[in-house]
Amino acid sequence: MTSKRTVVHVFVSVFILSIIKLCNGGVTSSYYRKLEYSTDLPLEVFTPPPGYNAPEQVHITQGDQTGRAVIVSWVTPSKPGSKSVRYWRADTHNKQHKHKAHGHIKTYKYYNYTSGYIHHATIRNLEYNTKYFYELGTGHVTRRFSFTTPPKVGPDVPYTFGIIGDLGQTSDSNQTLEHYHSNKKGQAVLFVGDLSYADNHPFHDNRKWDTWGRFIEKNVAYQPWIWTAGNHELDFLPEHGETVPFKPYKHRYHVPYKESKSTSPLWYSIKRASAYIIVLSSYSAYGKYTPQYEWLQEELPKVNREETPWLIVLTHTPWYNSLNYHYMEGESMRVMFESWFVQHKVDLVLAGHVHAYERSERISNIVYNITDGLCAPVMDPSAPIYITIGDGGNMEGIANSFTEPQPSYSAYREASFGHSILDIKNRTHAHYSWHRNQDGEPVAADSLWLHNRYWYPYAETSTTTTMA
Ligand SMILES: *[C@@H]1O[C@H](CO)[C@@H](O)[C@H](O)[C@H]1NC(C)=O
Ligand SMILES: *[C@@H]1O[C@H](CO)[C@@H](O)[C@H](O)[C@H]1NC(C)=O
Ligand SMILES: *[C@@H]1O[C@H](CO)[C@@H](O)[C@H](O)[C@H]1NC(C)=O
Ligand SMILES: *[C@@H]1O[C@H](CO)[C@@H](O)[C@H](O)[C@H]1NC(C)=O
Ligand SMILES: [Fe+2]
Repeated sequence: MTSKRTVVHVFVSVFILSIIKLCNGGVTSSYYRKLEYSTDLPLEVFTPPPGYNAPEQVHITQGDQTGRAVIVSWVTPSKPGSKSVRYWRADTHNKQHKHKAHGHIKTYKYYNYTSGYIHHATIRNLEYNTKYFYELGTGHVTRRFSFTTPPKVGPDVPYTFGIIGDLGQTSDSNQTLEHYHSNKKGQAVLFVGDLSYADNHPFHDNRKWDTWGRFIEKNVAYQPWIWTAGNHELDFLPEHGETVPFKPYKHRYHVPYKESKSTSPLWYSIKRASAYIIVLSSYSAYGKYTPQYEWLQEELPKVNREETPWLIVLTHTPWYNSLNYHYMEGESMRVMFESWFVQHKVDLVLAGHVHAYERSERISNIVYNITDGLCAPVMDPSAPIYITIGDGGNMEGIANSFTEPQPSYSAYREASFGHSILDIKNRTHAHYSWHRNQDGEPVAADSLWLHNRYWYPYAETSTTTTMA
């Protein structure tokens, strides 16, 4: 395995150096990967844990605004079972230090599918920066997991996020998840939407939501994934009576939206270490006077960069995308919110939806109005960098058709599956890297030192561009 990987590295480096094209814009990597679509792995591959009514599909996410709470979710297939989660500090062996958090159960029907018992329990008042064990189930089917809470929120607190999007459940998805999982640096995942792709199957076969929950458990039971809803979470099927958008998603994936005064789980914010993370919904109304618009308008001025220097926005549909897919789908939201992002000096906007990888320059297009004719994005040091990372590897395959020439706002683009790592060091510097699945874990195909827009607003140099 190791020697095979080394050979692959050498091959990849030489290959990239020789065929990278410099266009009007940045770099279009022509790294070759197989283009055949991967179908979903069969349902039977994702076996439930052994034992009658064993808790399965265990997943955690942040449960409050600052990281002292965790929402633990799981499914019991046959009967409700125990509603509580037992937890204790990893550094205590005294049984008296075991605590219990009580949850509640939800079930739902979708066309002719009936869900198992979906449990959600919020554990509160945890210590910062502390490892906990937690247990679900009883007797023979007790299952034990662990998580580590983040450090207390503060301006120079280092923290490392993984970034994954459009994952699905194919062998490519499995490669992406395994690749990220083997990277010991990731402490929490920023997930930019499109989870199970159940809706690509007849009647949105909701058993695919169950298999996806089993698939990701190995990682998400141990570190929180911060959820964004994508178009594949809509599950809108009116011809078969399913008229409530986001029904399976909202039943299965809970987020702490009330903590940030949001009125919907589809948009909310959290603070974690030195980052302030705002999650938006591309598929909910965001025009003027709508709930999401009003919330974001109130929300942005609340961000205190002295406390959380890094301001990161997650949304599913990219605003800047130079591939021949989803043309202008993000444009209406860009028109509504881009000037706010520039005004509030957002550091990074993460999106998925397009099944490839792309990183933009710091650009904005806020001068444009319908009469002045100025419609091209311009370099803008107050603007965010836009990352499209819809390359988790779902059954729809890779997006490999680029617009030519590469626009000047596009710094790097490649048609490969992978994940990213955002390694925040302090208030001024964060190391960002993108890791394609075909490479060994430490190899970064695209990387740069990000400079914080509030504390250190100087230009960045990407290692990829320098190399070419
Ligand atoms: C749901 O309906 C589909 C299509 O009629 C059928 O193939 C499937 O077996 C049904 N599932 C259940 C649980 O009844
Ligand atoms: C996922 O990949 C791992 C590591 O290569 C492998 O052990 C596992 O069997 C794969 N899982 C599935 C469902 O293919
Ligand atoms: C739009 O552009 C025109 C032409 O430059 C300018 O006169 C007008 O004030 C602009 N409108 C707004 C709302 O900025
Ligand atoms: C912040 O981190 C960067 C990268 O590790 C380092 O070069 C810089 O000196 C750090 N700044 C401070 C104030 O420690
Ligand atoms: Fe999508």
